[in-house]
Amino acid sequence: MSRDFEFRQLLRAYRGGIINEAAFERELAQLEQISPPPHNGGGFYAMGKSYPSEKAAIMNFLEGAAAGEAGGAEAFSRWAEVCKTDCIRSGLRMVAEREAYHSRQLGQRLRELGGECKGEMGEEGRKFVEFMSNPANPDLEKLGYLNRNFGSADQIFKPVREFIASIREDLQTREMLRLFVEDECSTLNWLCEACAALSAPKQSAAASA
Ligand SMILES: [Fe+2]
Repeated sequence: MSRDFEFRQLLRAYRGGIINEAAFERELAQLEQISPPPHNGGGFYAMGKSYPSEKAAIMNFLEGAAAGEAGGAEAFSRWAEVCKTDCIRSGLRMVAEREAYHSRQLGQRLRELGGECKGEMGEEGRKFVEFMSNPANPDLEKLGYLNRNFGSADQIFKPVREFIASIREDLQTREMLRLFVEDECSTLNWLCEACAALSAPKQSAAASA
């Protein structure tokens, strides 16, 4: 089993709520001990995987993120079209715009570095878009799904923030990724707050009187 595979399994378990943050950190530390990242030979280590160079790690990240954000743009814009909850509809449109511009800018930077956006939406991504755009699924169910799968923005983006902080040569990409992550955190925090507000029991007129 490759280190990359093990890391992804671990991240999936954490995102899916199967293990908590403490368990995630513990397992990650163990993984590091069992097979320490090969720093020799000028390689670059990022998010559980080693790359031949910083540039290779960045290009890999840009390609994956550009494709993921394009999927997010589609999911959120289609959800906004069928959204029945007035107070979140325009927020969803804002999120969709963010996702779309992230995809454009990350893709542009990838091309500037000599890469190509070949990443395509996988089966999981396609299912996600279908779930979000289905008018039969209640808005609160969609918010709950996002919260369960992504949870706390700070926790989810910790490995990405560490990767960004480790970039030493390509400062142009580092700075754009810093802004990208802040947008993503803002989106997740807003979704989390919307979920909490819409899940809260409604105060009855008698109780509030
Ligand atoms: Fe996103």
